[in-house]
Amino acid sequence: MDLQRIVDETWEALADQRGSGTPARYIPALELVDPRQFGIAMATRDGPVYCAGDADVPFSIQSVSKVFALALALEREGPALWDVVGREPSGNPFNSILQLEREKGVPRNPFINAGAIVTTDRFIGDRSPEVAIDDLLARLRLMARDEGVTIDTEVARSESQTGSRNRSLAYFLADFGRLLNPVEDVLSVYFRQCSLAMSCRQLAESALFLPFDGTDPVSGVTMCSPSRARRINALMLLCGHYDNSGQFAFEVGFPGKSGVGGGILASVPGRASIAVWSPGLNRAGTSLLGAKALSDIALRTGWSVF
Ligand code: DON
Repeated sequence: MDLQRIVDETWEALADQRGSGTPARYIPALELVDPRQFGIAMATRDGPVYCAGDADVPFSIQSVSKVFALALALEREGPALWDVVGREPSGNPFNSILQLEREKGVPRNPFINAGAIVTTDRFIGDRSPEVAIDDLLARLRLMARDEGVTIDTEVARSESQTGSRNRSLAYFLADFGRLLNPVEDVLSVYFRQCSLAMSCRQLAESALFLPFDGTDPVSGVTMCSPSRARRINALMLLCGHYDNSGQFAFEVGFPGKSGVGGGILASVPGRASIAVWSPGLNRAGTSLLGAKALSDIALRTGWSVF
């Protein structure tokens, strides 16, 4: 299969729809991004990354970071993480607080905001917020094989300034005794983790451990065990797009994780990791053009997991 041609043809087929969807407005710094940008990057065990469009432009990865935070929290905490966060789809928007009271402060899964806040808290563990965020950044630079991965401090500040919903979730969790660290410490890491600035190319490269049983087949770096990688993929398929996860599985057919910066990271088991980016979102916070691009790639490659 000529994967570069597939990536190019997908980009070209959708290029005239650039700017469709609605960029996230609740984080003011994200509104400043040019909504007509559109990038695709596909990494495989071959080595070279197949790219099209704005694949080298860094963007705010937002909730895509929750996949890396989960892998790293599991590495520190092991299966005990599952005592404080569930593994079921929520069927609710990413920032919903509805189920949290009924379910005694145990969030449905690690990808909704409440679950990600708990996961980040466990990733911090007994370390300072600064040590934890430096560790996260170092791991991502290692996996992306690129020292250019950074945190956009302007986006992090913007998120914190408008973060009342996430503060509500975090204080609610703290009231149920689910957090080890002070709320503001956990949020300071959570906001910075969401504000990681990465390009499609960096994202696709750093996520190669997901489709390849926990070990990047190009660098040989192991991120997690094969069974853990498979389980993270399972959660991405079932919960990666919140109340749009069913639709994404139906249209695309492989695991993915969206972010309100307009990025989607997809993992095609045994084949590739694919990152797409276009800032306009659908109502569930998934990139409209990004989801179309992945659906198109699934069609052209026949790579559905089903
Ligand atoms: O916490 C927030 O609301 C954002 N930092 C992340 C939300 C997000 O990316 C949802 N995903 N589509």
